[in-house]
Amino acid sequence: MTIRTLGMTRFRITVTFSGWCPRDDHPLGLPLQVVWYFAGKESNVETQSMCVHIRWMIRRDMPSVLAIENSCFEFAWSEDDFIRCLRQRNCIGMVAEQDNEVVGFMIYELHKNRLHILNFAVHPEHRRTGVGQSMVDKLLGKLSHERRNRIMLEVRETNLEAQLFFKSIGFRAISVLRDFYDDTIEDAYLMQYRYQPSAEELAQPHNRISKLAG
Ligand SMILES: CC(C)(COP(=O)(O)OP(=O)(O)OC[C@H]1O[C@@H](n2cnc3c(N)ncnc32)[C@H](O)[C@@H]1OP(=O)(O)O)[C@@H](O)C(=O)NCCC(=O)NCCS
Repeated sequence: MTIRTLGMTRFRITVTFSGWCPRDDHPLGLPLQVVWYFAGKESNVETQSMCVHIRWMIRRDMPSVLAIENSCFEFAWSEDDFIRCLRQRNCIGMVAEQDNEVVGFMIYELHKNRLHILNFAVHPEHRRTGVGQSMVDKLLGKLSHERRNRIMLEVRETNLEAQLFFKSIGFRAISVLRDFYDDTIEDAYLMQYRYQPSAEELAQPHNRISKLAG
């Protein structure tokens, strides 16, 4: 077990292999090659001005992901860092593609009541075109009133661009994490997005059985 501070966040690594696409997030629990096919079919985010295709990260994306990581962060994750992280059962990698080129990625964890973003970047040449928003939209679509109802992440206090980006989507800073990083003396802001249930959802009676089981 090791604790490391990797660019955005600090997390504990336990090495147990479970593949790149945790079963929890995939309805079929399929092997990677098959997931590659279905992921492309399943997750398609398109906008009028450009086409962003969001899919699960696979091993052959690693050179592009590392190139983006190194172009974005002073204290970048290494390939080993990515692999160790993605081997966790609850850790998921997604990439954004434009014209078959990987232009962004996100690594996040599934927890019982929340999603936690560990690493997230868009290639500098592809920013301000909605790529980051498309990836976060994908996560927002996984939230619900009953189960995972928030997304959290730590942002460096000096990373104003990311703070503005997340604020524009509806995230709010909820606390300051003092001396959070090992690599610099800066603090982190803990940012959170809370799912807003519709009036219909609020009006629905609670499922008492799932509450008891949960
Ligand atoms: C943060 C980041 C992922 C945003 O990605 P992006 O693809 O450029 O974001 P989008 O184009 O989807 O932006 C959506 C909205 O967020 C806001 N926004 C994004 N970047 C912004 C910036 N630099 N300044 C102010 N607002 C910004 C804007 O409101 C933007 O809409 P607009 O372009 O129509 O004005 C990207 O800047 C990045 O990779 N930064 C370096 C890595 C990093 O800091 N990662 C996050 C660590 S916590």
